[in-house]
Parts: sequence; structure tokens; C-alpha cells
Amino acid sequence: MKVTIVGAGAVGASCAEYIAIKDFAAEVVLIDIKEGFAEGKAMDLMQCSSLNGFDTKITGVTNDYAKTAGTDIAVITSGIPRKPGMTREELIGINAGIVKSVASSIIEHSPEAIIIVVSNPMDTMAYLAHKSLGLPKHRIIGMGGALDSARFKYRLAEAMDCPTSDVEGIVIGGHSDVGMVPLINNAVRNSIPVSEFLSEERMAQIVEDTKVGGATLTKLLGTSAWYAPGAAVSELVKAIALDTKKMFACSALLEGEYGLNDICIGVPCILGKNGIEKIVEVKLSAEEAEKLKISAEGVKKTNALLN
Ligand code: 2OP
Repeated sequence: MKVTIVGAGAVGASCAEYIAIKDFAAEVVLIDIKEGFAEGKAMDLMQCSSLNGFDTKITGVTNDYAKTAGTDIAVITSGIPRKPGMTREELIGINAGIVKSVASSIIEHSPEAIIIVVSNPMDTMAYLAHKSLGLPKHRIIGMGGALDSARFKYRLAEAMDCPTSDVEGIVIGGHSDVGMVPLINNAVRNSIPVSEFLSEERMAQIVEDTKVGGATLTKLLGTSAWYAPGAAVSELVKAIALDTKKMFACSALLEGEYGLNDICIGVPCILGKNGIEKIVEVKLSAEEAEKLKISAEGVKKTNALLN
């Protein structure tokens, strides 16, 4: 299993580290445009192998896509991260050109690769990848909902003062500060609805805190987060690599599912060796369905900027 991560910045390097530590891939190639940067990150990470006990081989290259040939799964993290006060959508002007270019370079050398898009505005970048590459829709996956769901579970566990391993929850909709739809009515603590433990007000607050989870960290860090994004991507890569059929909220191209067409947006997806094995249509309340519709309108507005 060969994984290529485009962009050796904080998210890309964290993703490489988590993939290595989980030790399910033979090789990870980190590629960046900055001379020597990916090589340095890869060497630093490889010097952890005897300490963290992994056999995955991590190599770094500068802009030489021939070295990515034979990639099974490619992760696109390249582009600029947002600064405090910025929305993800404001990154489109710079990131669209980068994502389009690196996506075609990947496919040129690895025609069968499955692509995971992380660069923001992620739903629109995933849509751009579909439109520019014309691959079968199951081979392009946007990573946002897996991260947002992890943040949702963190907030729920914090509020219930319990381990996150006791909590299940999912966030669908656009990966944006206003467009996320945390499915609070489906959230459980060990199969018991969280409404048994939390007041309506507290649950509403958790929904709002989840939606701005990224912005909250950007304000604290001065730049976008990287540990949880990197970890979320590594879980998607693992599900595909090991054909686990695990389900995550992923940005997928919809062709009628949830009443939506010609859009990439976060929905529950079963992941396996083919990428998106199945899009799962869950029953939504009228309120949740309306929120998803409004979220989709926001994503389509950003997509229109691509023209
Ligand atoms: C986040 O929410 C980078 O969009 C990513 O942290």
C-alpha cells in the first residue's frame, strides 16, 4: 500500500506521522514544492520509527511527481491555511489552482489512485477535483466531516464528563463555520441518547461549539489546526487501505441523495478498498433536512466562485 501526501505542512506531516504509527501502509511519500522541506519532515519522522515501533517507510520529495508513481491513496493538503478571523471559503482564490494542479499530477503518475481532499474550502475543492479529473465518483473523498464529528464527540464527552470512547455522534453538511449539521438527536453515550444526560440548552451549545471548532483553534493557534485534521485523514486512509467498511461523514459527490445534485457535501459514507463504497441516507428530522438544504446552498455559492 503506497500513500502519497501532497503538502508537507502541519496537516500533511501529522497525517504521515499517524499513518506510520498505525503501521498499515508499506510506504508514505510526502511531497512539497518547498526545496528540501518534505525530505526534512520525512527524515525527522523516520527517526521516530525505532522509538514509535513502525515499519512504514516515509520518503520526502520536492515536486517530483514521478516519485509518487503507483500511489494507491493520495491525500491533498496543499494550499494555504486560514488565519484568525478568516473563513475557509476565503482561501478559494489561491487554493483552487493548487488543488487542480496537484490532483492532475497525482493522476498522471497513478491513474488508479483514490484521492482524499483536505485543502479548504474543502467541499468546493473536492467538487473541483471531480470536475477537473472526471474520475469515478467513488474515488474522490473530501475530509471534513470525520474531523467535525471528532470535535462533536469531544464536546459531548466534555459536557458529560465521560471518555470520548463512550460517545458516538456524526456531523453532516458543509465543512464550514455556518454549514455544519451536528446530528445531536442521533448522538449517544453507550447507546443511550445524550438527551438523557444533557439539557436542551447544553446540547444547543455543543452544536454551536462544534460548528466553530476549527475557527476556535485558529484563534488560539494563529493558524489552522493540524493534529485532529491529520488524525482524521489517517483514519480515512486506514479504512480504505484495510477495506474495513467503516462509516465516516465524508464530502461525497451527490447525484440525488438527500435530494441534492451536483455538489460535494458531508454525508455518512462507508469506506473500503474502492473509496466510497456506499453513501448512507439516514432519516433526518424536518429541521435537520432544512439545515442540510441551507448548508448545500452555501456550498453551491462557493462552488460558483470557481467560475
Ligand atoms: C479545520 O477545521 C483545517 O478545516 C480544517 O481545522
